[in-house]
Amino acid sequence: MSATVPMISKAMLDSIREDFPALKKKRNGLPPIYLDNACTTLVPKQVIDAINEYYTTYPACGEGRSRYWFAEDVTCRIEGDSGKGIKGSRQIIREFINARSEKEIIFTSNTTHAINIVALGFRFKPGDVVLLTDKEHNSNLVPWLRLQGKGLIKLDHVDSTQDDIFDLENLKYKLANRKVRLVSMAYSSNLTGYTIPAKDIIKIAHDYGIKVLLDGAQTVPHKTVDVQDLDVDFLAFSIHKMCGPKGVGILYGKREFLGQKLHESDETPDVIEPTILGGGTVTETTYDSYSLLNPPERFEAGIQDYPGQIAAGSAIEYLQRIGMNRINSQENQLNHFLTEQLLNRYGETGWFKILGPHDSSQRGGILTFEIKRPNALGIAEELSKKSNVMIRDGAFCVHSFLNKKFGQGWMRPGLPQEHRMLYRVSLYFYNTMDECQIFLETLNEIFEERSYV
Ligand SMILES: Cc1ncc(COP(=O)(O)O)c(C=O)c1O
Repeated sequence: MSATVPMISKAMLDSIREDFPALKKKRNGLPPIYLDNACTTLVPKQVIDAINEYYTTYPACGEGRSRYWFAEDVTCRIEGDSGKGIKGSRQIIREFINARSEKEIIFTSNTTHAINIVALGFRFKPGDVVLLTDKEHNSNLVPWLRLQGKGLIKLDHVDSTQDDIFDLENLKYKLANRKVRLVSMAYSSNLTGYTIPAKDIIKIAHDYGIKVLLDGAQTVPHKTVDVQDLDVDFLAFSIHKMCGPKGVGILYGKREFLGQKLHESDETPDVIEPTILGGGTVTETTYDSYSLLNPPERFEAGIQDYPGQIAAGSAIEYLQRIGMNRINSQENQLNHFLTEQLLNRYGETGWFKILGPHDSSQRGGILTFEIKRPNALGIAEELSKKSNVMIRDGAFCVHSFLNKKFGQGWMRPGLPQEHRMLYRVSLYFYNTMDECQIFLETLNEIFEERSYV
């Protein structure tokens, strides 16, 4: 590892782990070893304190609905108050992804919600194509399948190369030969951890006048993402995957595509319409008409998750204090160690395989492995029972790709020798080498008991 990459020192890691109450719990005298961070992350006390402060100190609605003391405090925590020197969470998030304006930051309930806002609000024309990768999470597939089912769009995807990396040539071919209107892709795969060359993809798409939505659910929590540098049109991510509360996500959209006019019907073709309307989205109504607020409010209908939105700012400040470079290098270091150990022990071509690129530095904090052995089920449960190690099994919401790769019904036990299971370890900055070591030892014990080794 290069000396210029900042690392998390042992002392820093010890102090970070002190911040996470869940890491102090014990079961059967043993601490938890949480390795399912791609699903959702643990929450530090600073974030829990922010939620607690909301409910105990100003538990009211904010955002201009009410003009009393509690409401002012809520609004101030979300929108900031330069006079009082308080940064609001929307500003913290804007700075974190380097958006131009707070107006480009829309609070949603998660990545799925954010993608649906674009899918439902984008003004597609008959024949428009939406282009995906071959390994989309269902959250960036099902909303589009639905539109395709209604005959509103056609779907297509870019297959990966033999080495499981993004095929830029295939992208160029598709963009030149199909009526692509929107490219919507997972920036990093939750199956393999691989990060697509987003900047190149966006440049190529823009050369054809095509807009790009990135599903940043597995990227924004792990490395610096600069929306201006990428020049991305829309970016979706989940705060609960970055030490924040459950139920808060973000949709970033370039201001020009979020609309300015009072009536959605007045907007130009590339502006997304708000599709969930109601209180908080309009300036006024009559019995016959309504006038929309400007973004982001027009997309934030109804009473919001104020404690979650406030705590989202605390979560991002927490990550910033550690530093995204350190977070990234800690995950890389752990994944490198795990990859080497697993491949040394079990080889890489037989019954044990790692999905995605072999080089762990291309897989961030994710390591998904395939086991093809009789009775390969139940390893996640056993890891949890034996050593409190928590990893994930199943299809990770990427059924479409796995069904194509292994054939429909691949998870159902077939002939004993054909039984296949996938397991995913996903790391975050608070994980340690010792935890990885316990995972490896317990896994090996299970393999021995099952006579795999
Ligand atoms: C790549 C990717 N996209 C979308 C999602 C959906 O995120 P959420 O459940 O927060 O909406 C996930 C969740 O794991 C994901 O990994």
